[in-house]
Amino acid sequence: MNSGLIGLFPNYRPRRLRRTPALRRLVRETSLQPGQLVLPLFARAGQKARRPVAAMPGVFQLSPDQAVREAEKAHALGVPAVLLFGIPDRKDERASGAYARHGIVQQTVRLLKKELPQLLVLTDVCLCEYMSHGHCGIVDPKSGGVVANDLTLPLLARAALSHAEAGADVLAPSDMMDGRVAAIRRALDQHGFSATPILSYAAKFASAYYGPFREAAESAPKFSDRRSYQMDPANGREALREVALDIAEGADMVMVKPALAYLDVLYRVKTQFAYPTGAYAVSGEYSMIKAAAANGWIDERAVTLESLLAMRRAGADFIVTYSAAEAARWLREGV
Ligand code: PBG
Ligand code: ZN
Repeated sequence: MNSGLIGLFPNYRPRRLRRTPALRRLVRETSLQPGQLVLPLFARAGQKARRPVAAMPGVFQLSPDQAVREAEKAHALGVPAVLLFGIPDRKDERASGAYARHGIVQQTVRLLKKELPQLLVLTDVCLCEYMSHGHCGIVDPKSGGVVANDLTLPLLARAALSHAEAGADVLAPSDMMDGRVAAIRRALDQHGFSATPILSYAAKFASAYYGPFREAAESAPKFSDRRSYQMDPANGREALREVALDIAEGADMVMVKPALAYLDVLYRVKTQFAYPTGAYAVSGEYSMIKAAAANGWIDERAVTLESLLAMRRAGADFIVTYSAAEAARWLREGV
């Protein structure tokens, strides 16, 4: 025991409160519940289609009807929300599919809201899945391949507005352009969506943990990387400035991404701003657990729940995780 503490609390014997399950439950500091989880879904045109994502066992590219089925299963287990991504049939240099009235996300949102009105539908607002080059914004050819911040903002605002028009409950911009929350907020307010909240991926790092996602969403950049717009993994203080900026621009909730390798950032964001804060347990975090479990090296259920609990302990109010439905089932069965 820490000698300083022995001096302060000479009679403190922590193990007294660890003796039985009931005592442990009584003094537990952090809870993890299905109601705090958000399930990401990948939608793609088709009917009754489920294409497995090789790098993410248990994750599929789903036709809209199957996205409804998957959402329904999760919802029945107590998961209140899904986060929708789209894989369009065609990509171009202006990400037209991102703001098409009948784009894949817009269609799937309409169907989800029709079939499951109680389910919260969050949409990822970005352009990378819809761009032929795979970057999150307009690439200005004159600039030698730089992603042009201010040319991108109107397209993000259009995409967000088209999701809101389709019935999305929450818009979640993940592009990391400067000023995008303000641009999206303005577009929503001007078109009668002043009540629709924005969940900003405020502290999103340029992370190698996104590898499996880029297979799932078919959104890997064709040249260069995302380090000129996503954050440097070395920077914790800068994350606080990013969050401050997004809140000032009108973000209603903020998110830190990835989760497990950035718990210090999550903790600081929650402590400093006391805002509704999410953690995104990203694809690589999911795949690492699945791979180790498939080899029999770890207990999948225990490691998954412990990781999610750690994110809650660090300050996450809610967690976006590919394990949402499974975790909800495990939590219901009792640990
Ligand atoms: C797209 C986007 C990405 C993720 C969420 N939205 C990928 C990226 O930025 O390259 C990552 C999610 C994950 O890895 O699970 N902007
Ligand atoms: Zn993107």
